[in-house]
Amino acid sequence: MKKDFLSIKDLTRDEIFNLFEEANYLRKLLKEGKSFYPLKGKTLGMIFRKPSTRTRLSFEVGMYQLGGHPIFLSLPQLQLKRGETIEDTAKVLSLYIDAIMIRTFDHQEVIRFAKAATIPVINGLTDLLHPCQALSDYYTIWRKKKNLKKIKWVYVGDVNNVCNSLILGASILGVNLFISHPPEYKPNEEIISQARESKEAKITFVKDPLEAVKEADIIYTDVWTSMGKEKEEKDRRSIFKDYQVNLNLVKKAKEDVIIMHCLPAHRGEEITDEVIDGKKSIVFEQAENRLHLQKALLVKLLGSKIS
Ligand code: CP
Ligand code: NVA
Repeated sequence: MKKDFLSIKDLTRDEIFNLFEEANYLRKLLKEGKSFYPLKGKTLGMIFRKPSTRTRLSFEVGMYQLGGHPIFLSLPQLQLKRGETIEDTAKVLSLYIDAIMIRTFDHQEVIRFAKAATIPVINGLTDLLHPCQALSDYYTIWRKKKNLKKIKWVYVGDVNNVCNSLILGASILGVNLFISHPPEYKPNEEIISQARESKEAKITFVKDPLEAVKEADIIYTDVWTSMGKEKEEKDRRSIFKDYQVNLNLVKKAKEDVIIMHCLPAHRGEEITDEVIDGKKSIVFEQAENRLHLQKALLVKLLGSKIS
């Protein structure tokens, strides 16, 4: 049966750690300049209803590096833009290509696509979730700390698609996740209850960000205004202002705290230049790891073997 990756919950804990090991292996081959083409002859189609730098490039380059062929499907040139249904599009693409990656607004669109398609579908971000990001962020920290259960991970800001996927990932991996957000923008209850179905879930909400980051090993933030929410930008800027990751906040955490951000950042809003460019920040390492982790994911979903 085909396997999709629409949510981090589509993977078990063992599958996630297996992907981490395989991403390390693929990273090593790449750094050593060794070729490895397990996806020779395979094609990945990519549809974006929202802009992207990292997701598009890391999937595109990743496919090439694995011997496969990525196809960027420009939305204005697809009949989808002229009203062809998601289901018909999914069925037709399934006749030509081996997997599809979609970035869109409504999460239901990805679910409908996956139901109609006979090929693996990857969620490249929806308004609800960003599973590729969260999975590679856990990979980044696993490489540094190994035992993910022993860290205090604090997310400060908007409980958005990235945060939702971090929440679901934390509930599978047993990560101690603290979240600090303004009361005006509440978390998605369905996501919280999905997370709490797992006995590993340790999700704590702390209103005051300065309190939340005490003894933190990781401070993670993302934009206050996600793609598609631009109309709310002005209000959000004022409501989130106390949730900025700045030097004052960072100094309340552990001395060796790690600063994370999925990028793109709105510098001067959710994070200051000093922090994102500072020694504790690993934001570019995060961006690099999207490539290694997603290559492992592609090999898994496309049914090839790494070792
Ligand atoms: N982090 C992330 O997904 O970046 P892009 O929007 O550039 O793909
Ligand atoms: N939360 C952000 C993530 C971008 C990668 C957004 O949806 O715009």
